[in-house]
Amino acid sequence: MSTRGSSAHPGFGGAPLPVRIAAELSLRVAAGRPIEWTPVLSVGIDAIDRQHRTLVDCINRLSEANTCGRSSGVIVALLGDLADYAHEHFRFEERLLEQHGWPKAPDHALAHRAFEAQVHEFSRRLAAGERMLATPLLMFLVEWLTEHILVDDIAYAGFLGADNPT
Ligand SMILES: [Fe+2]
Repeated sequence: MSTRGSSAHPGFGGAPLPVRIAAELSLRVAAGRPIEWTPVLSVGIDAIDRQHRTLVDCINRLSEANTCGRSSGVIVALLGDLADYAHEHFRFEERLLEQHGWPKAPDHALAHRAFEAQVHEFSRRLAAGERMLATPLLMFLVEWLTEHILVDDIAYAGFLGADNPT
């Protein structure tokens, strides 16, 4: 992945940084390569960073299954694991944001629910046999997670940092 401020993909050169990073990682996963958690994705809260790394691991397991041509059933099962872990992570975050009075906590929770609804829809269609959806699913997961971390999560992390949560 290129670093902050660089323009490895000129087509994304004019886009905001989170969009550029998300697009680069999305192209990577679409090409069947694993994505890597990098410090660029750190929100500066260890527990949250660890959970985000686990989500990246879940995406990479899905990506590997897709690259290896595994069945829809395997893809749906791995997506179920990702959805279960994401749900746990979201609940952790939402409790933290409520405890610390983050004013945008309700909007943040709504973003999580929208993600869960989209994952559920992907899962439903894959289970119905739309195996070719696996790559668009991976691109969606990578783009959503990257942009969510770099925009929404970074925003609350700054607020919590000022509130000294640890
Ligand atoms: Fe979040």
